[in-house]
Order: sequence, then structure tokens, then C-alpha cells
Amino acid sequence: MKLLVTGRDGQVAQALSKCASDTVEIVCVGRPELDLLDPASIKTQVEAHRPDVVINPAAYTAVDKAESEPELACAINRDGAGYVAEAAARIGVPIIQISTDYVFRGDKPSPYTEDDATDPQGAYGASKLAGEQAVAAANPTHSILRTAWVYAPWGNNFAKTMLRLAGDRDVVRVVADQHGTPTYAPDIADGILAVARKMLAEKEASDWRGVFHMTNSGATSWAGFAEEIFARSSERGGASAGVEPITTADYPTPAKRPANSRLHTAKFTNVFSHTLPDWREGVIRFCDQAHGKTRD
Ligand SMILES: NC(=O)c1ccc[n+]([C@@H]2O[C@H](COP(=O)([O-])OP(=O)(O)OC[C@H]3O[C@@H](n4cnc5c(N)ncnc54)[C@H](OP(=O)(O)O)[C@@H]3O)[C@@H](O)[C@H]2O)c1
Repeated sequence: MKLLVTGRDGQVAQALSKCASDTVEIVCVGRPELDLLDPASIKTQVEAHRPDVVINPAAYTAVDKAESEPELACAINRDGAGYVAEAAARIGVPIIQISTDYVFRGDKPSPYTEDDATDPQGAYGASKLAGEQAVAAANPTHSILRTAWVYAPWGNNFAKTMLRLAGDRDVVRVVADQHGTPTYAPDIADGILAVARKMLAEKEASDWRGVFHMTNSGATSWAGFAEEIFARSSERGGASAGVEPITTADYPTPAKRPANSRLHTAKFTNVFSHTLPDWREGVIRFCDQAHGKTRD
């Protein structure tokens, strides 16, 4: 199968590019050839490559900055996603759209299901929710995968920041009252491939259409995530630090974060017969990679 992926350097796009094999061709196209602000560039690339499935992980992902430039966030995350879905529809292929836990308010005491009401608390979440709606309107053959707390050995993310901070301080202050599931980008890529395979094997089926929650299994807080990173890193002779738990109120940010980001993933597992591993397994592979020991 041939997959066209938007963006080249994003965490998820890079993870997908590493999944190429004899049977899976992955073409990642980013700016300037494909710009989500430029519908003609999207149409041109989709028509030139004629993939079996289009995957749209590219996005405006600067959560705090989005508060001061909501129009740009919407132009990329709502309109851009809609253009990608439309271009895929025009050549008769499905789209996999990557979305976020930030579509929720974050005050539910248990994990969010796909049926729960959305209520984004910031401009980024609102733009991504509008993107889900634009994709659904433009292409009936869509799977929208909401994920959370993405990290990888590449790109910018919390896990890399923790290892960097541990290099020059003994204790790192980390928020302990926001809960979610750290999700390792290579596991997201595997999940996306499971979706693409089912879309192509069961073209007429309807169960793969719609919104799905897809994260690693289990949950923790940002402080718990940091502690796990330091424990696994130190076992491998890498950087480590103590974690001082703090509250959201101690660490004000322009955009409000959901206190509860946990997503219920049973629907994804049931439909795609695929479960992403426990989040701690991702941390092990991340630390192995950081110390040059493994495959991802
Ligand atoms: N990161 C998280 O914690 C998280 C959590 C939940 C959901 N998500 C969602 O997961 C998806 C993947 O996230 P990620 O962490 O892989 O993102 P990322 O590392 O921030 O990468 C975003 C990518 O989007 C590209 N991009 C931005 N504006 C563009 C435009 N106008 N035209 C074309 N490409 C553009 C960027 O290109 P350049 O490299 O050229 O800037 C970059 O390659 C996103 O849809 C995000 O909303 C992320």
C-alpha cells in the first residue's frame, strides 16, 4: 500500500517514514511542496502521488502561541485539514486525520470516550475540533484518531526536554495534577498502519469510519512521566534528576490544559484488533534510543 503523509519533520510523520517496507510505501511531503495554507499545493501533491490512503498529522501544534494567533491555527488545523480530506476524496481515497485530547474540557473523572461532548478550552483545541468537522464534511471515508502527550526520540517534546533539564539540574519541578497517557510516536505510527490496512482490506465496511481514541495504554501525570523517564534513563547510565511535584496553578501557561486527558481506547482496539502498548514500554524504548541501543 502507498501512504501519503503530510509534513516531513513532525514527530508522527518521522515515525511513519520509518515504517516503510517492501509492502508499505510511505511518501512524506511537507512545506514548501505541500503547505496546509495552500489548497492548490495539497491538490497537486495528492494527485501527483495518487496514494491508497492520505494521512494528515501535520498541524499547527504550538498550543500556547495559538492563543495569540487563533486565525493562523484555524487556517492550518481546520481549513488545511479540510483541503487534505477534499483532495483525498477527489481521487477516491480515504483520509486518516490525527487529532487531540485537547478537544475536551478535561474535568471528567474517568477516561473520555468518543461519545463524550467536546468542549475545547483553548484556541489550539478549538482549531483541531474544527479540523475534525472539516475532514468529516469533506470526505465520508475518514478515520479521525485522537491521541495525546506525543513524544519521540526526534522533534520537540516533554521527554526530550526532561533529559535536557536533567543534564544541568538536580531537581525538576513538574506538574502533578494533570493526568493523561504519554504516547510514543512509533506506536502511533503502528496504530495508523493498522487503520490504513483495514481501510483498504474492507473498503465498503463502515466500522472504521468516524472518531477513535488511540493512545498508549495506562495513564500517569506529567510528574509520573518524568519520574519514569529518569528511572529508565539512569538505568542506562543517562541523565537523571529528582522530580518536585507542582500544581497547574504553580506553572501558569497562556493556554489552559485539561486536568484529565485520559482517553478510553476500547473502540479503537475492538475495531482495528490493535492495542498500543503500555506507556511505560514506550519510555523504555525512548530511553534505549536515547542511549543508542535499539530499533525505533
Ligand atoms: N504533540 C502532541 O503532544 C500531540 C498531542 C495530541 C495530538 N497531537 C496531534 O498529532 C499530530 C502530530 O503531532 P506532532 O507532535 O507529530 O507534530 P509536530 O512534531 O509539531 O509536527 C507538526 C508538523 O506539521 C507541519 N506543519 C505545520 N504547519 C504546516 C503547514 N502550513 N503546512 C504543512 N505542514 C505544516 C510542521 O512542519 P515544519 O516541520 O515545516 O514546521 C511539522 O512537520 C498533530 O495533528 C497534533 O495536533 C499532538
